[in-house]
Amino acid sequence: MNAVDIITKKRDGAVLDEAEIRYMVMGYTQGTLPDYQMAAFLMAVYFKGMNRQETICLTNLMKHSGDIVDLGAINGIKVDKHSTGGVGDKTTLIVGPLAAACGVPVAKMSGRGLGFTGGTVDKLETIPGYQTSMAARDFMNQVNETGIAVIGQTGHIAPADKKIYALRDVTGTVENLSLITSSIMSKKLASGSDAILLDVKCGSGAFMKNLQDAERLAELMVEIGNADGKKTMAVITDMEQPLGCAVGNALEVQEAIAVLKNKGPSDITELSAVLAGMMVFLGEKAASVEEGIEKAKKALADGSALEKFKALVKGQGGNPRITEETGLMPHSNLCIEVKAGQAGYVKAIDAMKIGLASQHTGAGRQRKEDGIDLAAGLVLCKKIGDAVQAGEVLCRVYGNDAEKTRLAAVEVKAAVVIGTARPEKPQLIKKVIR
Ligand code: URA
Repeated sequence: MNAVDIITKKRDGAVLDEAEIRYMVMGYTQGTLPDYQMAAFLMAVYFKGMNRQETICLTNLMKHSGDIVDLGAINGIKVDKHSTGGVGDKTTLIVGPLAAACGVPVAKMSGRGLGFTGGTVDKLETIPGYQTSMAARDFMNQVNETGIAVIGQTGHIAPADKKIYALRDVTGTVENLSLITSSIMSKKLASGSDAILLDVKCGSGAFMKNLQDAERLAELMVEIGNADGKKTMAVITDMEQPLGCAVGNALEVQEAIAVLKNKGPSDITELSAVLAGMMVFLGEKAASVEEGIEKAKKALADGSALEKFKALVKGQGGNPRITEETGLMPHSNLCIEVKAGQAGYVKAIDAMKIGLASQHTGAGRQRKEDGIDLAAGLVLCKKIGDAVQAGEVLCRVYGNDAEKTRLAAVEVKAAVVIGTARPEKPQLIKKVIR
Protein backbone atom coordinates (compact mmCIF):
# COMPACT_ATOMS: atom_id res chain seq x y z
CA MET A 1 0.00 0.00 0.00
CA ASN A 2 1.28 3.51 -0.68
CA ALA A 3 -0.06 7.03 -0.29
CA VAL A 4 0.10 7.98 -3.98
CA ASP A 5 -2.17 5.04 -4.97
CA ILE A 6 -4.69 5.99 -2.27
CA ILE A 7 -4.67 9.67 -3.24
CA THR A 8 -5.16 8.88 -6.96
CA LYS A 9 -7.89 6.35 -6.14
CA LYS A 10 -9.86 9.01 -4.26
CA ARG A 11 -9.01 11.67 -6.85
CA ASP A 12 -10.65 9.40 -9.46
CA GLY A 13 -13.76 9.05 -7.34
CA ALA A 14 -13.39 5.47 -6.06
CA VAL A 15 -14.48 4.24 -2.62
CA LEU A 16 -11.66 3.57 -0.13
CA ASP A 17 -11.59 0.61 2.23
CA GLU A 18 -10.80 0.65 5.95
CA ALA A 19 -7.14 -0.30 5.46
CA GLU A 20 -6.57 2.56 3.02
CA ILE A 21 -8.21 5.19 5.24
CA ARG A 22 -6.28 3.81 8.23
CA TYR A 23 -3.01 4.07 6.27
CA MET A 24 -3.59 7.77 5.65
CA VAL A 25 -4.95 8.75 9.08
CA MET A 26 -2.47 6.79 11.20
CA GLY A 27 0.46 7.63 8.92
CA TYR A 28 -0.28 11.33 9.23
CA THR A 29 -0.92 11.24 12.97
CA GLN A 30 2.28 9.29 13.61
CA GLY A 31 4.32 11.57 11.36
CA THR A 32 5.28 9.06 8.65
CA LEU A 33 3.05 10.71 6.02
CA PRO A 34 4.11 14.24 4.99
CA ASP A 35 1.81 17.31 4.99
CA TYR A 36 1.81 17.55 1.19
CA GLN A 37 0.40 14.03 0.73
CA MET A 38 -2.25 14.50 3.41
CA ALA A 39 -3.16 17.87 1.88
CA ALA A 40 -3.59 16.25 -1.57
CA PHE A 41 -5.68 13.48 -0.01
CA LEU A 42 -7.93 15.99 1.79
CA MET A 43 -8.42 17.95 -1.42
CA ALA A 44 -9.38 14.72 -3.23
CA VAL A 45 -11.92 13.99 -0.47
CA TYR A 46 -13.14 17.59 -0.66
CA PHE A 47 -13.96 17.24 -4.37
CA LYS A 48 -15.00 13.56 -4.61
CA GLY A 49 -16.56 13.14 -1.16
CA MET A 50 -16.77 10.01 0.97
CA ASN A 51 -19.74 7.71 1.26
CA ARG A 52 -21.48 6.92 4.56
CA GLN A 53 -19.32 3.85 5.25
CA GLU A 54 -16.05 5.70 4.55
CA THR A 55 -17.17 8.58 6.81
CA ILE A 56 -18.02 6.21 9.68
CA CYS A 57 -14.66 4.51 9.23
CA LEU A 58 -12.77 7.85 9.25
CA THR A 59 -14.66 8.95 12.39
CA ASN A 60 -13.79 5.73 14.25
CA LEU A 61 -10.13 5.88 13.30
CA MET A 62 -9.86 9.48 14.52
CA LYS A 63 -11.83 8.72 17.69
CA HIS A 64 -9.43 5.88 18.59
CA SER A 65 -6.28 7.85 17.68
CA GLY A 66 -6.04 9.01 21.35
CA ASP A 67 -7.64 8.63 24.77
CA ILE A 68 -11.26 7.74 25.38
CA VAL A 69 -12.29 9.79 28.43
CA ASP A 70 -13.95 7.91 31.29
CA LEU A 71 -16.48 10.09 33.14
CA GLY A 72 -17.89 7.08 35.00
CA ALA A 73 -17.12 8.66 38.39
CA ILE A 74 -19.73 11.37 37.71
CA ASN A 75 -23.26 10.48 38.83
CA GLY A 76 -26.10 10.69 36.32
CA ILE A 77 -26.43 10.95 32.55
CA LYS A 78 -23.78 13.28 31.19
CA VAL A 79 -24.98 15.28 28.19
CA ASP A 80 -22.52 17.10 25.94
CA LYS A 81 -23.47 19.97 23.64
CA HIS A 82 -21.58 21.00 20.53
CA SER A 83 -22.12 23.84 18.10
CA THR A 84 -20.73 23.67 14.56
CA GLY A 85 -19.67 27.27 15.07
CA GLY A 86 -21.12 30.66 14.40
CA VAL A 87 -20.71 34.36 15.07
CA GLY A 88 -21.69 35.47 18.59
CA ASP A 89 -22.33 31.91 19.73
CA LYS A 90 -21.81 32.00 23.49
CA THR A 91 -24.52 29.45 24.27
CA THR A 92 -22.25 27.06 26.20
CA LEU A 93 -21.84 29.75 28.89
CA ILE A 94 -25.63 29.90 29.28
CA VAL A 95 -26.84 26.41 28.41
CA GLY A 96 -24.35 24.65 30.71
CA PRO A 97 -25.58 26.39 33.92
CA LEU A 98 -29.19 26.15 32.70
CA ALA A 99 -29.06 22.39 32.14
CA ALA A 100 -27.16 21.94 35.43
CA ALA A 101 -29.84 23.96 37.26
CA CYS A 102 -32.37 21.44 35.89
CA GLY A 103 -30.39 18.52 37.33
CA VAL A 104 -28.28 17.42 34.34
CA PRO A 105 -24.59 16.94 35.24
CA VAL A 106 -22.49 19.10 32.90
CA ALA A 107 -18.87 17.99 32.50
CA LYS A 108 -17.70 20.09 29.60
CA MET A 109 -14.33 20.20 27.91
CA SER A 110 -14.11 23.11 25.52
CA GLY A 111 -11.56 24.48 23.11
CA ARG A 112 -9.87 27.72 22.20
CA GLY A 113 -10.93 29.20 18.93
CA LEU A 114 -9.46 30.08 15.61
CA GLY A 115 -11.52 32.71 13.86
CA PHE A 116 -13.92 35.45 14.85
CA THR A 117 -13.46 35.28 18.63
CA GLY A 118 -11.77 32.92 21.00
CA GLY A 119 -13.49 29.70 22.06
CA THR A 120 -15.36 29.01 25.31
CA VAL A 121 -12.08 28.59 27.19
CA ASP A 122 -10.83 32.02 26.08
CA LYS A 123 -14.16 33.54 27.08
CA LEU A 124 -14.05 31.94 30.53
CA GLU A 125 -10.51 33.23 31.00
CA THR A 126 -11.85 36.80 30.88
CA ILE A 127 -13.31 36.08 34.33
CA PRO A 128 -10.70 37.11 36.92
CA GLY A 129 -9.20 34.03 38.60
CA TYR A 130 -11.09 31.39 36.56
CA GLN A 131 -8.90 28.29 36.08
CA THR A 132 -9.55 26.42 32.85
CA SER A 133 -7.28 23.51 33.68
CA MET A 134 -7.97 21.07 36.46
CA ALA A 135 -6.86 17.56 37.48
CA ALA A 136 -9.31 14.91 36.24
CA ARG A 137 -10.32 13.92 39.80
CA ASP A 138 -11.03 17.57 40.79
CA PHE A 139 -13.02 18.05 37.57
CA MET A 140 -15.25 15.07 38.34
CA ASN A 141 -15.57 16.06 42.03
CA GLN A 142 -16.69 19.53 41.03
CA VAL A 143 -19.40 18.12 38.74
CA ASN A 144 -20.62 15.81 41.52
CA GLU A 145 -20.62 18.65 44.07
CA THR A 146 -21.91 21.63 42.06
CA GLY A 147 -23.41 19.98 38.98
CA ILE A 148 -21.10 21.70 36.50
CA ALA A 149 -17.46 22.14 35.48
CA VAL A 150 -16.10 23.65 32.27
CA ILE A 151 -12.41 23.23 31.48
CA GLY A 152 -10.09 23.29 28.48
CA GLN A 153 -9.67 20.15 26.42
CA THR A 154 -7.12 18.02 28.24
CA GLY A 155 -4.83 15.18 27.35
CA HIS A 156 -4.97 13.43 24.15
CA ILE A 157 -8.49 13.46 22.70
CA ALA A 158 -8.61 12.61 18.97
CA PRO A 159 -5.06 13.83 18.17
CA ALA A 160 -5.63 12.77 14.54
CA ASP A 161 -8.36 15.40 14.25
CA LYS A 162 -6.18 18.03 15.87
CA LYS A 163 -3.44 17.51 13.28
CA ILE A 164 -5.76 17.05 10.30
CA TYR A 165 -7.94 20.05 11.25
CA ALA A 166 -4.89 22.31 11.45
CA LEU A 167 -3.94 21.22 7.91
CA ARG A 168 -7.52 21.60 6.61
CA ASP A 169 -7.62 25.10 8.01
CA VAL A 170 -4.71 26.21 5.80
CA THR A 171 -5.52 24.17 2.66
CA GLY A 172 -9.11 25.20 1.95
CA THR A 173 -10.53 21.79 2.88
CA VAL A 174 -12.71 22.57 5.91
CA GLU A 175 -16.15 22.76 4.24
CA ASN A 176 -16.76 19.12 3.41
CA LEU A 177 -19.57 17.04 4.90
CA SER A 178 -17.51 13.92 5.66
CA LEU A 179 -14.53 15.85 7.00
CA ILE A 180 -16.69 18.03 9.28
CA THR A 181 -18.71 15.02 10.48
CA SER A 182 -15.66 12.92 11.32
CA SER A 183 -13.87 15.86 12.95
CA ILE A 184 -16.76 16.75 15.27
CA MET A 185 -17.96 13.23 16.05
CA SER A 186 -14.50 11.73 16.68
CA LYS A 187 -14.00 14.28 19.50
CA LYS A 188 -17.55 13.96 20.88
CA LEU A 189 -17.43 10.15 20.92
CA ALA A 190 -14.07 10.19 22.73
CA SER A 191 -15.17 12.74 25.35
CA GLY A 192 -16.94 10.37 27.73
CA SER A 193 -20.51 11.77 27.70
CA ASP A 194 -23.59 9.52 27.58
CA ALA A 195 -25.62 11.69 25.22
CA ILE A 196 -24.85 14.41 22.67
CA LEU A 197 -26.74 17.47 21.49
CA LEU A 198 -25.55 19.05 18.23
CA ASP A 199 -26.37 22.65 17.30
CA VAL A 200 -25.87 22.72 13.52
CA LYS A 201 -25.63 26.31 12.31
CA CYS A 202 -27.08 27.21 8.93
CA GLY A 203 -26.71 30.46 6.98
CA SER A 204 -24.20 33.00 5.69
CA GLY A 205 -22.10 32.90 8.88
CA ALA A 206 -21.90 29.09 9.07
CA PHE A 207 -20.07 26.27 7.26
CA MET A 208 -23.46 25.04 6.02
CA LYS A 209 -24.97 27.85 3.94
CA ASN A 210 -28.33 26.19 3.16
CA LEU A 211 -30.87 24.01 4.96
CA GLN A 212 -30.32 20.99 2.73
CA ASP A 213 -26.57 20.79 3.52
CA ALA A 214 -27.23 21.44 7.22
CA GLU A 215 -29.77 18.59 7.27
CA ARG A 216 -27.33 16.17 5.64
CA LEU A 217 -24.66 17.07 8.19
CA ALA A 218 -27.06 16.82 11.14
CA GLU A 219 -28.55 13.50 10.00
CA LEU A 220 -25.16 11.88 9.46
CA MET A 221 -23.80 13.05 12.83
CA VAL A 222 -26.96 11.88 14.64
CA GLU A 223 -26.73 8.48 12.93
CA ILE A 224 -23.05 8.08 13.88
CA GLY A 225 -23.67 9.13 17.50
CA ASN A 226 -26.61 6.78 17.96
CA ALA A 227 -24.74 3.91 16.28
CA ASP A 228 -21.96 4.41 18.84
CA GLY A 229 -24.47 3.92 21.68
CA LYS A 230 -24.83 7.61 22.62
CA LYS A 231 -28.30 9.09 22.42
CA THR A 232 -27.78 11.93 19.92
CA MET A 233 -30.04 14.74 18.73
CA ALA A 234 -29.43 17.75 16.51
CA VAL A 235 -31.11 21.08 16.05
CA ILE A 236 -30.55 23.22 12.95
CA THR A 237 -30.44 26.90 13.89
CA ASP A 238 -30.12 30.21 12.08
CA MET A 239 -26.77 31.85 11.37
CA GLU A 240 -27.84 34.48 8.81
CA GLN A 241 -27.02 37.13 11.41
CA PRO A 242 -24.91 36.95 14.59
CA LEU A 243 -26.50 35.24 17.58
CA GLY A 244 -27.39 37.79 20.25
CA CYS A 245 -25.67 41.17 20.01
CA ALA A 246 -22.17 40.73 21.46
CA VAL A 247 -19.20 39.35 19.52
CA GLY A 248 -15.90 39.27 21.44
CA ASN A 249 -14.71 37.40 24.49
CA ALA A 250 -15.43 39.51 27.61
CA LEU A 251 -18.38 41.15 25.80
CA GLU A 252 -19.92 37.72 25.21
CA VAL A 253 -19.48 36.73 28.86
CA GLN A 254 -21.34 39.91 29.85
CA GLU A 255 -24.14 39.08 27.41
CA ALA A 256 -24.31 35.50 28.75
CA ILE A 257 -24.72 36.90 32.28
CA ALA A 258 -27.52 39.20 31.02
CA VAL A 259 -29.30 36.17 29.52
CA LEU A 260 -28.90 34.24 32.78
CA LYS A 261 -30.55 37.22 34.50
CA ASN A 262 -33.36 36.91 31.93
CA LYS A 263 -32.45 40.34 30.57
CA GLY A 264 -30.59 39.33 27.41
CA PRO A 265 -31.44 39.58 23.70
CA SER A 266 -34.51 37.53 22.77
CA ASP A 267 -32.92 35.30 20.08
CA ILE A 268 -30.13 33.92 22.25
CA THR A 269 -32.48 33.61 25.22
CA GLU A 270 -34.90 31.53 23.17
CA LEU A 271 -32.17 29.37 21.62
CA SER A 272 -30.55 28.76 25.02
CA ALA A 273 -33.87 27.60 26.50
CA VAL A 274 -34.41 25.22 23.57
CA LEU A 275 -30.89 23.78 23.71
CA ALA A 276 -30.99 23.39 27.49
CA GLY A 277 -34.48 21.84 27.23
CA MET A 278 -33.16 19.27 24.77
CA MET A 279 -30.27 18.51 27.12
CA VAL A 280 -32.71 18.10 30.02
CA PHE A 281 -34.69 15.62 27.90
CA LEU A 282 -31.55 13.73 26.83
CA GLY A 283 -30.43 13.67 30.48
CA GLU A 284 -33.80 12.10 31.40
CA LYS A 285 -34.85 14.94 33.68
CA ALA A 286 -37.91 15.62 31.51
CA ALA A 287 -40.31 13.30 29.71
CA SER A 288 -40.30 15.40 26.52
CA VAL A 289 -38.31 18.18 24.88
CA GLU A 290 -41.24 20.55 25.52
CA GLU A 291 -41.18 19.75 29.25
CA GLY A 292 -37.39 20.26 29.23
CA ILE A 293 -37.81 23.70 27.64
CA GLU A 294 -40.40 24.67 30.28
CA LYS A 295 -37.98 23.62 33.03
CA ALA A 296 -35.16 25.61 31.41
CA LYS A 297 -37.34 28.73 31.13
CA LYS A 298 -38.26 28.39 34.79
CA ALA A 299 -34.57 28.12 35.76
CA LEU A 300 -33.93 31.39 33.90
CA ALA A 301 -36.90 33.14 35.51
CA ASP A 302 -36.29 32.00 39.10
CA GLY A 303 -32.55 32.80 39.10
CA SER A 304 -31.39 29.21 39.67
CA ALA A 305 -29.42 29.17 36.37
CA LEU A 306 -27.60 32.37 37.41
CA GLU A 307 -26.80 30.79 40.81
CA LYS A 308 -25.40 27.73 38.98
CA PHE A 309 -23.20 30.01 36.86
CA LYS A 310 -21.87 31.67 40.03
CA ALA A 311 -21.18 28.22 41.54
CA LEU A 312 -19.29 27.25 38.39
CA VAL A 313 -17.16 30.40 38.50
CA LYS A 314 -16.48 30.05 42.24
CA GLY A 315 -15.70 26.32 41.94
CA GLN A 316 -13.02 27.09 39.36
CA GLY A 317 -11.35 29.87 41.31
CA GLY A 318 -13.06 32.82 39.59
CA ASN A 319 -14.73 35.84 41.12
CA PRO A 320 -18.54 35.34 41.07
CA ARG A 321 -19.02 39.08 41.76
CA ILE A 322 -18.56 39.65 38.01
CA THR A 323 -22.27 38.94 37.69
CA GLU A 324 -22.95 42.22 39.51
CA GLU A 325 -19.79 44.25 38.80
CA THR A 326 -18.95 44.19 35.10
CA GLY A 327 -16.09 46.60 35.86
CA LEU A 328 -14.17 43.55 37.12
CA MET A 329 -13.99 42.22 33.53
CA PRO A 330 -11.39 43.35 30.98
CA HIS A 331 -12.54 46.47 29.12
CA SER A 332 -11.35 48.41 26.06
CA ASN A 333 -9.96 51.92 25.85
CA LEU A 334 -11.71 52.75 22.58
CA CYS A 335 -15.30 52.64 21.38
CA ILE A 336 -16.49 53.68 17.91
CA GLU A 337 -20.19 54.05 17.22
CA VAL A 338 -21.34 52.91 13.78
CA LYS A 339 -24.39 54.95 12.77
CA ALA A 340 -27.12 54.42 10.17
CA GLY A 341 -26.73 56.52 7.01
CA GLN A 342 -30.48 56.42 6.31
CA ALA A 343 -33.78 55.59 7.97
CA GLY A 344 -35.56 52.28 7.28
CA TYR A 345 -35.39 48.70 8.52
CA VAL A 346 -32.37 46.45 9.03
CA LYS A 347 -32.63 44.08 6.06
CA ALA A 348 -29.45 42.02 6.51
CA ILE A 349 -26.48 41.74 8.86
CA ASP A 350 -23.83 39.65 7.13
CA ALA A 351 -22.67 37.34 9.91
CA MET A 352 -19.41 36.47 8.19
CA LYS A 353 -18.44 40.14 7.73
CA ILE A 354 -19.35 40.91 11.35
CA GLY A 355 -17.24 37.94 12.45
CA LEU A 356 -14.27 39.17 10.46
CA ALA A 357 -14.70 42.70 11.83
CA SER A 358 -14.64 41.26 15.34
CA GLN A 359 -11.50 39.29 14.52
CA HIS A 360 -9.89 42.45 13.17
CA THR A 361 -10.51 44.33 16.43
CA GLY A 362 -8.15 41.74 17.96
CA ALA A 363 -10.89 39.53 19.48
CA GLY A 364 -10.04 36.49 17.33
CA ARG A 365 -6.95 34.61 16.21
CA GLN A 366 -5.77 34.07 12.66
CA ARG A 367 -3.16 31.48 13.67
CA LYS A 368 -3.28 29.33 16.77
CA GLU A 369 -0.15 30.93 18.22
CA ASP A 370 -1.67 34.46 17.96
CA GLY A 371 -2.61 36.30 21.14
CA ILE A 372 -6.09 37.79 21.48
CA ASP A 373 -7.48 40.97 22.99
CA LEU A 374 -10.02 39.65 25.50
CA ALA A 375 -11.79 43.02 25.81
CA ALA A 376 -12.15 43.81 22.08
CA GLY A 377 -15.13 43.08 19.84
CA LEU A 378 -18.46 44.65 19.06
CA VAL A 379 -22.04 44.93 20.26
CA LEU A 380 -24.89 45.25 17.77
CA CYS A 381 -27.68 47.63 18.78
CA LYS A 382 -30.02 46.51 15.99
CA LYS A 383 -30.97 43.14 14.51
CA ILE A 384 -32.72 42.12 11.27
CA GLY A 385 -36.26 43.56 11.14
CA ASP A 386 -35.58 46.44 13.56
CA ALA A 387 -36.56 49.98 12.53
CA VAL A 388 -33.76 52.58 12.42
CA GLN A 389 -33.59 56.35 12.16
CA ALA A 390 -30.87 58.12 10.14
CA GLY A 391 -27.91 58.70 12.48
CA GLU A 392 -29.04 56.08 15.01
CA VAL A 393 -26.33 53.81 16.46
CA LEU A 394 -26.26 50.39 14.76
CA CYS A 395 -23.26 48.96 16.56
CA ARG A 396 -20.51 49.82 19.05
CA VAL A 397 -17.03 48.58 18.14
CA TYR A 398 -14.54 48.16 20.99
CA GLY A 399 -10.76 47.84 20.86
CA ASN A 400 -7.42 48.95 22.21
CA ASP A 401 -5.70 49.65 18.88
CA ALA A 402 -6.97 52.78 17.10
CA GLU A 403 -6.30 51.63 13.53
CA LYS A 404 -7.71 48.12 14.04
CA THR A 405 -10.83 49.51 15.73
CA ARG A 406 -11.37 52.08 12.97
CA LEU A 407 -11.05 49.45 10.20
CA ALA A 408 -13.39 47.08 12.03
CA ALA A 409 -15.99 49.87 12.28
CA VAL A 410 -15.78 50.39 8.49
CA GLU A 411 -16.32 46.64 8.01
CA VAL A 412 -19.33 46.65 10.34
CA LYS A 413 -20.89 49.51 8.40
CA ALA A 414 -20.57 47.48 5.17
CA ALA A 415 -22.12 44.41 6.83
CA VAL A 416 -25.39 46.07 7.87
CA VAL A 417 -27.89 46.61 5.03
CA ILE A 418 -30.82 48.99 5.54
CA GLY A 419 -33.90 48.76 3.32
CA THR A 420 -37.22 50.54 3.12
CA ALA A 421 -39.57 47.57 3.72
CA ARG A 422 -39.73 45.73 7.06
CA PRO A 423 -38.29 42.21 6.43
CA GLU A 424 -39.36 39.01 8.18
CA LYS A 425 -37.18 38.10 11.19
CA PRO A 426 -35.20 34.92 10.34
CA GLN A 427 -36.63 31.69 11.76
CA LEU A 428 -34.28 30.81 14.64
CA ILE A 429 -34.98 27.09 15.05
CA LYS A 430 -35.21 25.48 11.65
CA LYS A 431 -35.45 21.75 12.37
CA VAL A 432 -34.91 19.13 15.07
CA ILE A 433 -33.33 15.84 14.04
CA ARG A 434 -33.36 12.78 16.30
N1 URA B 1 -15.77 22.07 13.98
C1 URA B 1 -14.93 21.02 14.12
O1 URA B 1 -14.58 20.62 15.21
N2 URA B 1 -14.49 20.44 12.98
C2 URA B 1 -14.85 20.83 11.75
O2 URA B 1 -14.42 20.24 10.78
C3 URA B 1 -15.72 21.92 11.64
C4 URA B 1 -16.17 22.53 12.79
